[in-house]
Amino acid sequence: MNLSQLQTAIERHFAEGPGAIGDDSAMATFLVLRAALESGEVRAASPDAGAPCGWRVNAWVKRGILLGFRLGVLMEFSAANLSFVDKSTFPVRHFVSGDGVRVVPGGSAVRSGAYVARSVVCMPPMYINAGAWVDEGTMVDSHALVGSCAQIGKRVHLSAAAQIGGVLEPVNANPVIIEDDVLVGGNCGVYEGTIVRKGAVLAAGTILTRGTPVFDLVNGAILRAEEEMPLIIPENAVVVPGSRAVSKGKGHESSQEWGLSLYAPVIVKYRDDKTDLSTALEDLLR
Ligand SMILES: CC(C)(COP(=O)(O)OP(=O)(O)OC[C@H]1O[C@@H](n2cnc3c(N)ncnc32)[C@H](O)[C@@H]1OP(=O)(O)O)[C@@H](O)C(=O)NCCC(=O)NCCS
Repeated sequence: MNLSQLQTAIERHFAEGPGAIGDDSAMATFLVLRAALESGEVRAASPDAGAPCGWRVNAWVKRGILLGFRLGVLMEFSAANLSFVDKSTFPVRHFVSGDGVRVVPGGSAVRSGAYVARSVVCMPPMYINAGAWVDEGTMVDSHALVGSCAQIGKRVHLSAAAQIGGVLEPVNANPVIIEDDVLVGGNCGVYEGTIVRKGAVLAAGTILTRGTPVFDLVNGAILRAEEEMPLIIPENAVVVPGSRAVSKGKGHESSQEWGLSLYAPVIVKYRDDKTDLSTALEDLLR
């Protein structure tokens, strides 16, 4: 089955609704998709120089993953004294040393249908969900989450407790994309289809959603998601968590009432030598 036949078959079985349950051909099609996701042959979003945001979302892939949830039954899994229950269609992936991926013991899991490239390091506890893509040289540090269908580039450092949102729930159309050489600092959250361009740095504690305006001090611009475009953090931007005065109602300073501020991510500069020093990756860890 080539990719366009796979797409057609996934769309057809997804459209069948609950009628696909128990259909061997639907299950076989889903298993082809799952294997293609794990090998990296199929992605939930692919770089596309012709697309306005530089990425093409392959929406059928998400439908294929949802088909897998529909087709799966609850199944018991066990390892030593541990036991788990999950959908039969999304068991935990098994790695062998030849895969070149290091999964350090201690509460980490990579779900079936996720692509993890050679040389990725997974520090416990962390979780990579179905449909995600994690490229070479990336470190997924402790307590980090790579949500469903999220795309993580090469040599990315996902710091401790960084949360990269998924597309399954709440229902979001577009996967989050973190391009090559990005540093996502500790406790960051990147959600709702946000694209973080190559080399950008998110300082610890930065949160980005579709509704979050980002204040670019260097270019004097306010970056926002638009109807057909997600929030995009420019290449090499250094974003830190800041705050801004509330301009309306009782929150406004001049109303002398609440004097509130709202969280506001700020681009304080674009990557320079000092940033490179602050964010240098440790080759020995890889
Ligand atoms: C962003 C970061 C990489 C620093 O980059 P840098 O290029 O060295 O930044 P600089 O120190 O030159 O700071 C540039 C400006 O941003 C401000 N700034 C830097 N980091 C900031 C932060 N985390 N929060 C708020 N402001 C910050 C600085 O005060 C400075 O502003 P000023 O010139 O008005 O004083 C660093 O702060 C950071 O967050 N690193 C990630 C740490 C982390 O999460 N590690 C994970 C371990 S698992």
